[in-house]
Amino acid sequence: MALKGKDIITLKDITKEDIEFILENAEIFEKKLKNGPLKLLEGKILATIFLEPSTRTRLSFESAMHKLGGRVLTVSKDEMTSLAKGETLSDTVRVIEGYCDVIVIRTPIEGAPKMVSDMVSVPVINGGDGAHSHPTQPFLDLYTLKKEFGKLEDLKVAIVGDLKYGRAVHSLAYALATMGTEMVFVSPKELRMPDSIIKVLKNEFGVEAEEKEKIEDVISEVDALYMTRIQRERFPHESEYEKMRSVYKLDSKIMKNAKEGMKILHPLPRMDEISPELDATKHACYFNQAHNGVPVRMAILAGVLGKI
Ligand code: CP
Repeated sequence: MALKGKDIITLKDITKEDIEFILENAEIFEKKLKNGPLKLLEGKILATIFLEPSTRTRLSFESAMHKLGGRVLTVSKDEMTSLAKGETLSDTVRVIEGYCDVIVIRTPIEGAPKMVSDMVSVPVINGGDGAHSHPTQPFLDLYTLKKEFGKLEDLKVAIVGDLKYGRAVHSLAYALATMGTEMVFVSPKELRMPDSIIKVLKNEFGVEAEEKEKIEDVISEVDALYMTRIQRERFPHESEYEKMRSVYKLDSKIMKNAKEGMKILHPLPRMDEISPELDATKHACYFNQAHNGVPVRMAILAGVLGKI
């Protein structure tokens, strides 16, 4: 696959071969890591520019770069750069590109990673832009599903929660559609998957996902529940968030109707949508899913830097 030099901004145009390439190489890296860190990206530098909070995306990219023998420069608060003095993001990234070989950027501004990628010559990876897109998260979601089930076809996944503002689920829907995984969307009416995404799924992927409002309506028929939090920071008014905040609470009572091998995923962080009583059950995959971010992001970095 020709990932070398590419930007990863959205998964709208991703191919099945692209996804399989990343997943296969992630598996290879996971095995190789058992013998210790690698030197594949020795001499290369990753710049992580995170203008919104992150634990998993930033740290797993940074861990991946370290484990490949590369180095990391990080900007985790705009207050700590000349952005705080009024320098524009475009000037900032034009400077940072001279210090690194690849950039991962997270920003509240939808479309900003695309703008940055048009401006700099190093590959740009979108680490999440507002409520729009989070295109590397689905690789670890699919990697986790593949590890659990040994396949991605003939599976039915319910995507549950805030499908309006959740950028990870927007990207995940495209990835699952690409791999032929059946989806059902579960959300309150107010937080439905945006029509723009439903239209792309229908017209470009030939996928028409069912829509439901209750977990109880799908729990017995799905192979995986992909839970998500209500995205408090995206609501225009706190009062609207308060109405939605605890709309889903997955607990052992609801889980009684789940298939024996049903798996629970979550991009994390979670609020109260998965009861901690489920953490020790065979259904819970979310912490492994977060850990899978390292080999998956090793494959992404090695790919865009032309080393695999
Ligand atoms: N899943 C995810 O994007 O987590 P962070 O916000 O912690 O990066």
